[in-house]
Amino acid sequence: LSIHATIDHEHDLAWMQDVLLHPKPSGDHPALIEANKLCSGLIVLEHRKLPEDLQEYLTPDETHRADRMGARRRQGFLAVRLGLKLLARFLFPDMQKIPANKLQTLDDESPRPNLPEFAGSEKYTVSASHNKHLTVVAASINSFGIDVEDRAAQAWRGRNFFMSALEQEMARQFSLGPEKAALRVWSCKEATAKAYNIDLNQAVWRVHLKKIGEITSLAKYKSGKNDVYHFAVNECLITILFKNEDVKRHCRITQ
Ligand SMILES: CC(C)(COP(=O)(O)OP(=O)(O)OC[C@H]1O[C@@H](n2cnc3c(N)ncnc32)[C@H](O)[C@@H]1OP(=O)(O)O)[C@@H](O)C(=O)NCCC(=O)NCCS
Repeated sequence: LSIHATIDHEHDLAWMQDVLLHPKPSGDHPALIEANKLCSGLIVLEHRKLPEDLQEYLTPDETHRADRMGARRRQGFLAVRLGLKLLARFLFPDMQKIPANKLQTLDDESPRPNLPEFAGSEKYTVSASHNKHLTVVAASINSFGIDVEDRAAQAWRGRNFFMSALEQEMARQFSLGPEKAALRVWSCKEATAKAYNIDLNQAVWRVHLKKIGEITSLAKYKSGKNDVYHFAVNECLITILFKNEDVKRHCRITQ
């Protein structure tokens, strides 16, 4: 089911079609079609296409938080807000009747992303990430974390700050080269931090990669081995990690 089939083209975020890499009426990137199969909803925005002024789509709380941010941080923050509002309307088309600036995507007590009230927050977990180029926002009935990264060479250069000796050895054997392996390891650790709501510093040394693969990896945290899926989209890598304890989905990855 396409997001465009369910959303009225007159709603106040209809202009976002031009900013979306997924869903895209003119055809999605093949890797994003696969990523979408793992989620209840997936939104991918291209930052270079975002308009400068997005104020009119924000709640007062969102505006207040954005006003304290530098330009780069603010762009990602705003893209997550718009992504969540669009996702809410995808999951619950009735949300189109509520103006975007009334859809609150902030949590009062934490920096975690939120679906607006009455958009299914009791049913879905949401996760979000942004890098220089893209913002990704997804919903799932399973607990998960999402991440987007692009600086593989930098990740490998910084390997001693986040990879164990064993992970470095696995990276040296990786078919696509150690830089792309290091990016996968970093991204797995960030996605675990979000899925388990732990500090990134904790995730760095307590998450152990058991397998690094081009499309799937395995990340151990405490006693659970978590399934990880990677999607290469243009120059970026999107990683989705599911907490293994309560997976209800059927995996249909075919890429
Ligand atoms: C969560 C974290 C790994 C994100 O890394 P990052 O380098 O900022 O980069 P990303 O772009 O991938 O992710 C940012 C998004 O993650 C989401 N996020 C932030 N904190 C989060 C958390 N605790 N759990 C899940 N998602 C979180 C937000 O949507 C944020 O974007 P936004 O602020 O613009 O909405 C990092 O900020 C971190 O370690 N935070 C500390 C976690 C924490 O405080 N845990 C609480 C228990 S100790």
